[in-house]
Amino acid sequence: MSVAHGIKSLGVIGAGQMGLGIAYVAALRAKVNVQLYDRSPEQVAKGLSLMDKLLAKDVAKGKIQEADARQARERVSVVDHAVGVRALRDADMVIEAVSENLEIKRRIFSELAAETRSDTILATNTSSISITKIASSAVPQGESAASVLGRSSAGRVVGLHFFNPVPVMKLVELISALQTSDETLSRAREFAVACGKEVTVSKDVPGFVSNALLMPFINEAIMWLEKGVATRDDIDKTLRLGMNHPMGPLQLGRHSLALLSAHHLHSIGLDTCLAIQQTLYAGTGDSKYRPSVLLERMVDAQWLGRKNGKGFYEYDN
Ligand code: 3HC
Repeated sequence: MSVAHGIKSLGVIGAGQMGLGIAYVAALRAKVNVQLYDRSPEQVAKGLSLMDKLLAKDVAKGKIQEADARQARERVSVVDHAVGVRALRDADMVIEAVSENLEIKRRIFSELAAETRSDTILATNTSSISITKIASSAVPQGESAASVLGRSSAGRVVGLHFFNPVPVMKLVELISALQTSDETLSRAREFAVACGKEVTVSKDVPGFVSNALLMPFINEAIMWLEKGVATRDDIDKTLRLGMNHPMGPLQLGRHSLALLSAHHLHSIGLDTCLAIQQTLYAGTGDSKYRPSVLLERMVDAQWLGRKNGKGFYEYDN
């Protein structure tokens, strides 16, 4: 097996859409052993069942051999819930893909700093939160980044931002924290390439290149709906047919996607979309990132998109 990046074992924290997709491409394309961890065992079970479906579909379509699918599935194991993050102590790399919440990420990176080897790469799939801030949490609990500067784990923290749906989307954004070492950066890049992805590099600015551009676009579409400039369907159709976007900003792929949720708001989830916009707005103070009132109200109502059956569209989950 060729492992230029030196990654043979990967821990993935978070078995939602992103974590599961990352586990999938890592096991199938980069051929690494994956340990999947989620605080919810039900989420892990759901993720694994989705992985089985995806592999079966690719075999049925002749995209992969049955033996490759079987080997990929065998590479994925589940972390014992009682052991938790400690189970990842021998991993060469860990990718965190939990919800967009800085406090949760801080806790995870502090634990990872304490539990993993000193050469384990610690990557975050955050969509918008500062990698530098997350890296500064990579010190054992109770110690401050400044007091342990010499032995802090911040140099092994990096941003690896995958796109949804991970098995399909070709891009990974690579983001360096102020603290990230060159070695961490180049190994993370090689790993993303081994997963079959193309890599772009962004500075550690709120939302990086991707979401700093995408979020105002989505938010503007919601505001136009709110103002009654056009209907939901016409807004989406305009972007789809006029600009060849695969799906409109408000749209969900309700007819086309049997396996999982689809585009933009409905693949991102309105709650995540709002969290990203809040991070962008707080991080820049720029009013172009201010979340629309309608988006806030939708999240207040827990109308989150495909994940719970209702967003700008209704879904038969
Ligand atoms: N997981 C795995 N595979 C999936 C999938 C999923 N969730 N959804 C669709 N697919 C696969 C299908 O199985 C199908 O594979 P096949 O060619 O082997 O049959 C292929 O994708 C195409 O699917 P469909 O024909 O059913 O549907 P579409 O032609 O509409 O394509 C799409 C689906 C690729 C998702 C397309 O709609 C698209 O490109 N949408 C835009 C997605 C996008 O913009 N993503 C980025 C979101 S932003 C982000 O992730 C950043 C984050 O930080 C917020």
